[in-house]
Amino acid sequence: MDINGHTRVLGVIGNPVEHTMSPVIHNNLAAATGENLVYTAFHVENENVGDAVKGAYALNLLGMNVTVPHKSAVIPYLKEIDPLAGRIGAVNTLVRCEGGFKGYNTDMPGLLRAMEHDGVAIKGEEIILLGAGGVARAVAMMLADNGAAQIYILNRSLKKAEEIAREVNSYCKKSHSGSDGNNSLEPSKEGFEPVKAMGLEEFSSLPSDRKYIAIHATSVGMHPNTEEAVIEDEKFYKLVKTGYDIVFNPLETKFMKLCKAAGGESFGGLRMLLYQGIIAYELWTGKSISDNLADEVYEKMLDAMRNF
Ligand code: ATR
Repeated sequence: MDINGHTRVLGVIGNPVEHTMSPVIHNNLAAATGENLVYTAFHVENENVGDAVKGAYALNLLGMNVTVPHKSAVIPYLKEIDPLAGRIGAVNTLVRCEGGFKGYNTDMPGLLRAMEHDGVAIKGEEIILLGAGGVARAVAMMLADNGAAQIYILNRSLKKAEEIAREVNSYCKKSHSGSDGNNSLEPSKEGFEPVKAMGLEEFSSLPSDRKYIAIHATSVGMHPNTEEAVIEDEKFYKLVKTGYDIVFNPLETKFMKLCKAAGGESFGGLRMLLYQGIIAYELWTGKSISDNLADEVYEKMLDAMRNF
């Protein structure tokens, strides 16, 4: 690709950011779609987040991604925020608007699109969610939004799981009453509380006459701690038909191995990472990315992971 005077710049801000996969996603998408774009990484110190957002706008950057630890810190510096990102309290994508940037969250739509790709349905399913941090909270909202029949949040600290359960259940009640405009849940289920909080070891009290989708939403097991999983007990994994890990490095986590060893299937977080990028790219360029191109870029990410 020729870099010239018309080339538009995009990038991700984070701290640290040097191991990001996002340049692999976006530079390959730009090459395949014929857009004159270049995407790079910007290491931004925590105290400089506001200056970085203002500077990016002044330099006419087409858009930005935002990663850890800046996803919430960036919010006060935005001109507008998409309602989903506001509800989640985390922004990972900035799109230019009149006088500044509008913030979006493409992580959860990315997880949803990855699950669709992998043939993992949410609607009507009983889902176990492991973890109760910021990511798990967003996943719980996404699952409730998409009609999960029941969400069991299992966390080391019960209190944090209870806080998310309370918040998501009350959000579901509000959306049934139509007060915040979300109508994705069926009105017939009015008053129903889809989320239950439990301690990690309480999995043994889950009904054992059925199998669950289990989503792991903590950083346990992430490189370099690849031999760790939040639950090691194989009795837990006997309950799991499909394991979904949001961790993408390593490609196969201990959680995924344990799911498979107990007879289930499992998927890692690399496709979620791909689709959050694709949705951001679609917002920046107005182009829609085909499944075929998504699969091609996924292969490039796998190549890049080999040298990670
Ligand atoms: P994030 O915002 O990225 O989700 P976080 O808010 O720090 O991160 O949340 C981390 C999650 O990982 C929490 O659910 C945490 O459990 P606690 O709420 O009990 O702290 C979970 N976690 C971290 N280390 C863990 C471990 N060794 N075993 C079990 N859970 C762990």
